[in-house]
Amino acid sequence: LREHEEFTKVKNIATIELGRYEIETWYFSPFPPEYNDCSKLFFCEFCLNFMKRKEQLQRHMRKCDLKHPPGDEIYRSGTLSMFEVDGKKNKVYGQNLCYLAKLFLDHKTLYYDVDLFLFYVLCECDDRGCHMVGYFSKEKHSEESYNLACILTLPPYQRKGYGKFLIAFSYELSKKEGKVGTPERPLSDLGMLSYRGYWTRVLLDILKKHKGNISIKELSDMTAIKAEDILSTLQGLELIQYRKGQHVICADPKVLDRHLKAAGRGGLEVDVSKLIWTPYK
Ligand code: ACO
Ligand code: ZN
Repeated sequence: LREHEEFTKVKNIATIELGRYEIETWYFSPFPPEYNDCSKLFFCEFCLNFMKRKEQLQRHMRKCDLKHPPGDEIYRSGTLSMFEVDGKKNKVYGQNLCYLAKLFLDHKTLYYDVDLFLFYVLCECDDRGCHMVGYFSKEKHSEESYNLACILTLPPYQRKGYGKFLIAFSYELSKKEGKVGTPERPLSDLGMLSYRGYWTRVLLDILKKHKGNISIKELSDMTAIKAEDILSTLQGLELIQYRKGQHVICADPKVLDRHLKAAGRGGLEVDVSKLIWTPYK
């Protein structure tokens, strides 16, 4: 049985405690071998250190002096804050976050080389501290123009618009860099749904307001969405025609309205005026 479990990577940790939530896990995550014998782990919600027993966590909470993720707060609007954590400066935090995230990410390989990544951790803040809602990671330098490596909304916070907020945030960073971006592949089913929803809404909003012709290149410059992702989204919406060897956008207002209605809620907005950030050098 052991060998079989090892081979198929059966989920080891069944539940975690994090802040005020007890969360059932989804997938295997390669915690260090000394955690193989436990089915529940207790996380410090601020430094993300994990422990085998509740009493250890309670002792830890008395001396842990973090009340938010390490790193720089680069965005604050109302009770929402975003922290940028450099994996090189906060290695242990980065690794802990990866262990935690892998519990909910299936086909992502875990990067131990957290040095190469920045982590953008979204928090809901109150008088007890800043509570992690989700995050995305981003390579410091991506040859493939990836602007996001992994994205996660913790299960208790899912389906409330935080995923779309994180995606929008990743594109706002790309705009500030003056680059187009795309998420690392493969995408999970939930990842694909969220991205499709985001791309659809952003593109439809522009097409709806725009008068006259607009090209995919222009849309890409405005949104920082990679041209391929724009093309596949608009093709999915049947807004593309192929004329004289060229893709042409055909945006009939009635068709746009129908798609916009179907596109669902817009999600939480990123207020760009609240973003204080310069690209990584
Ligand atoms: N069932 C059906 N549709 C869903 C579901 C679901 N369970 N969850 C999200 N969606 C779709 C909906 O269209 C939703 O929009 P709507 O609520 O307006 O209809 C849209 O995705 C996004 O919803 P959000 O609330 O903004 O997203 P959420 O905070 O739930 O986060 C995320 C989405 C990050 C993908 C989350 O589901 C998650 O963490 N999943 C586990 C990890 C994962 O798969 N990450 C992506 C891997 S790919 C990569 O990392 C590059
Ligand atoms: Zn701690």
